[in-house]
Amino acid sequence: MPLSNAEIARLVEDRRVHKRVYIDPEVFELEMERIWGQAWIYIGHESQVPKAGDYFTTNINHKVPVVMVRDKHGAVHVLHNRCGHKGAKLVEQRSGNARGAFRCAYHGWTFQHDGQVLKIPNETGYDNTGFDLKDSCNNMQKVAQSASYRGFVFATLSSDAPDLETWMGGAKDCFDNLCDRSPEGEVEVAGGVLRYEHDCNWKYIIENLNDTMHPMVVHQSVVQAAQDYIDTLPEEAVKQRSEAEIILPFGGSYENMEHMGITGFKYGHHYDGGKTSIHADYSVDPEYHKRMVAAYGEERTKEIYSFNTHNTLYYPSLTIKTAVQNIRVVRPVAVDKFVVETWSFRLKGAPDTMLQRTLLYSRLINSVGSMVGPDDLECYRRVQDGLHSDASEWVEMYRQFGRDEDLGDRVRGGGTSDLDMRTEYAAWRDYMLQEAFS
Ligand code: FES
Ligand SMILES: [Fe+2]
Repeated sequence: MPLSNAEIARLVEDRRVHKRVYIDPEVFELEMERIWGQAWIYIGHESQVPKAGDYFTTNINHKVPVVMVRDKHGAVHVLHNRCGHKGAKLVEQRSGNARGAFRCAYHGWTFQHDGQVLKIPNETGYDNTGFDLKDSCNNMQKVAQSASYRGFVFATLSSDAPDLETWMGGAKDCFDNLCDRSPEGEVEVAGGVLRYEHDCNWKYIIENLNDTMHPMVVHQSVVQAAQDYIDTLPEEAVKQRSEAEIILPFGGSYENMEHMGITGFKYGHHYDGGKTSIHADYSVDPEYHKRMVAAYGEERTKEIYSFNTHNTLYYPSLTIKTAVQNIRVVRPVAVDKFVVETWSFRLKGAPDTMLQRTLLYSRLINSVGSMVGPDDLECYRRVQDGLHSDASEWVEMYRQFGRDEDLGDRVRGGGTSDLDMRTEYAAWRDYMLQEAFS
């Protein structure tokens, strides 16, 4: 018996959430169907499939395999990665080029890049059987909806979901800012991917994202170590100093974090920062600045730099850092396991130093060799363990409740508030009760 709506509704209140949402496999299965099976989920970037026949595979939730592929007319499709014959997963590799067509490894049916069945072997065996090869049920099926915003491709298994831009709402501004930081207004994937499996529930990473009450505690030791290192550097060690300084904002004070503010949107999206963020003080590369001004003019360039968000969440699957040009893609695996991938982007038309800075940031903050990301992971694991205790059934999200400012299409709150978590759980509840798109 699946959980009833009344049982689901009892798991999330406006200021606290029941521990079952993190540790109960039944809740997890329902999340896969009702959140990950309805929301727009990030698939990949168009630059990962530049030529006809290029493909990239992923799962849309913990199970459903999909493939993003470019056809000969340049269109990008997101197809169910399932053979139209007896259902075999068609594309096994993570990425590659399926020259003329996809060919199933089992009985050799072939499919065009838009999913349409092309040829089947020994076709006469179907004569006079009522089988109709032209019936679209024999194709690789398209997902219910897919769309791209400035090159970022999303898909949803729900035909009721509103269009992608409506679903993103005001959080769309962050994609615009990320791309506008390129003198050509476009970005492309570069520099490989960091991929890690974490032994805990998928929601911890998105709850941690804009949890600004943790950095000065969890990351205190690495910030201190970075500062101690900087103090040993001679005056002329400019490069080493600027690299180590990337870590220092993670020790920002409560006042600084509060000042950033958090903005929440419908469907669970949110960002912190805006006017200022922990990335606001990064110095601008002079060559990059010159190219930006040549492309946009002084005023617009200043405006682009001054939109300083830290992390933006497109609930539930994608987080982006506009000022750093990297993204993290989340995929649940089980109630106590998820995968996170960090992808970096090149700002087209910018000097190579900008990409090197992005890659350096990813290594320093998000990689397994980083001193920052593993601090967070250790805490997720501790929460996962701790919640198995029956000492209390609830996890609180009270901070600054009642002080949020409703601006119509968005809600603004203090940077150290739990507005981010409350925003996520309002969406969690809507999706799980199947009321999100009604
Ligand atoms: S399952 Fe793909 S050709 Fe038979
Ligand atoms: Fe952290």
